[in-house]
Amino acid sequence: MNIVMLGPPGAGKGTQAERIFAQFGWKPISTGDIFRVALAEGTPLGLEAKKYMEAGELVPDDIVEGIVADRLKKPDVKDGFILDGFPRNLHQAKALDKMLEESGGKIDLVINITVDTETLVKRLSGRRVCRKCGANFHLLFNPPAVEGICDHCGGELYQREDDNEETVRTRLKVYEELSEPVVSYYNPSGRLLSIDGTGTPDEVYMEIHAAIELASGGAAV
Ligand code: AP5
Ligand code: MG
Ligand code: ZN
Repeated sequence: MNIVMLGPPGAGKGTQAERIFAQFGWKPISTGDIFRVALAEGTPLGLEAKKYMEAGELVPDDIVEGIVADRLKKPDVKDGFILDGFPRNLHQAKALDKMLEESGGKIDLVINITVDTETLVKRLSGRRVCRKCGANFHLLFNPPAVEGICDHCGGELYQREDDNEETVRTRLKVYEELSEPVVSYYNPSGRLLSIDGTGTPDEVYMEIHAAIELASGGAAV
């Protein structure tokens, strides 16, 4: 199954994409993660993306769309993928349609995770990410067993550059202005399902699981 995850910064897209992957094996593709890896490796792409990410602005469409188009051609997404953080504006949504048209693929389900702003800010300010494997933790809501250390790989946990208060505010504004219209774009398709993301990660996953079951006619579960 091919899924698009929509939702504001901190909604839990990455957290839930990992859970779907763990159960169904559909590959998460996070454009934000791709840029963070490129940045850690010091590639030209990483250095270019850094300017925008640190400011909380979107990386230019031609760069992001090129990356996603290449990624969707890789064999590991043949049986399914979960786009997390793409498309993020109408231009990208239309570009994705074109990519799928050319490859003969389609999006089966669009999951829109909704969370109020106050909760988003709390989640982003307490988030910690593994430097090695990219796993997400939260100081209060999802703490690692040992402080500062990733439960999965033993890597060091760090706070994302763009999780400071000022950049978070810009990211939320950018989401409202540019990314929210993408929700309306998918609305008439009948594949869009909005999910309340304010419960615990388990509660949110239960709703997502039900949405996947519904979209697959029970075949996926
Ligand atoms: P990206 O990395 O995609 O960031 P984002 O969209 O701002 O989303 P986040 O990763 O912050 O949140 P999330 O929804 O994944 O939440 P998470 O699961 O971590 O993008 C970063 C930047 O890259 C952009 O600003 C832009 O510059 C650039 N970029 C990326 N894609 C682009 C594109 N397509 N076009 C242009 N530019 C692009 O959860 C957050 C925290 O809350 C965690 O600590 C987690 O443990 C906790 N948590 C999760 N769920 C729950 C829950 N149910 N209850 C309590 N805590 C929870
Ligand atoms: Mg994320
Ligand atoms: Zn790790």
